Amino acid sequence: MNVVLAPSILAANFSRLGEDIKILAKNGIKALHLDIMDGHFVPNITFGPDQIKDFSTVVPTMELDVHLMVSDADALLERLAAAGVNSVTVHAEACGHLYRTLMKIKDLGMKTGVALNPATPFTQLLYVAEAGILDKVLVMTVEPGFGGQAYIPMSTRKIESLAGWRREFGFDFVIQVDGGITIDNVEMVVKAGASDIVIGSSIFKNNQMDKNIKAFADRLKLDLMEEK
Ligand code: DX5
Ligand code: ZN
Repeated sequence: MNVVLAPSILAANFSRLGEDIKILAKNGIKALHLDIMDGHFVPNITFGPDQIKDFSTVVPTMELDVHLMVSDADALLERLAAAGVNSVTVHAEACGHLYRTLMKIKDLGMKTGVALNPATPFTQLLYVAEAGILDKVLVMTVEPGFGGQAYIPMSTRKIESLAGWRREFGFDFVIQVDGGITIDNVEMVVKAGASDIVIGSSIFKNNQMDKNIKAFADRLKLDLMEEK
């Protein structure tokens, strides 16, 4: 499976975000991970659909991958679709009507994802996976809300079990990981079964995005400059 690196702009310096996003694109990055937080589902606040629309004008071909950490995901879906978002991931813990929410995301022409907090079992996704409306499972490898936290070690076993479960049932969702990914643990999560790798601080650290991206690409033997 193709491995995708998706920088989380949460770790960027927002006073020069446009320029930084252009640097990511120049270094072969094809997907941006956009964390929307509402100060209610998680104790932090970020940005919303209007700002995402602005980001998309800077890098029009970049895939926009939204991670909703909000209590009312449904309220934002139309505006996210209108902003040009390609994929929306909602939290299982926040969605009382997960089937309906995923159907709505699909009807709006976007890909679906479900994020699971560290303590949430993936088996509760059985029926949405069977219904064929689950494109991605986001295994949170930290508690959501903040960048720069340390990877929770038991996550590796969870990713492996999820990959085994996917194989057993013949599902084809992508496994995404998010939180505390570094140059030292990235190979381990890919080996466990993740192919969509969200990276915040380790991409933006020292304001050396080019060097940091290259280090991840080298470690995973990826050719990011190859045309897809
Ligand atoms: C945390 C967010 C992450 C965060 C990852 O709630 O969902 O996307 O930006 O940042 P790092 O890689 O620094 O843990
Ligand atoms: Zn995220």
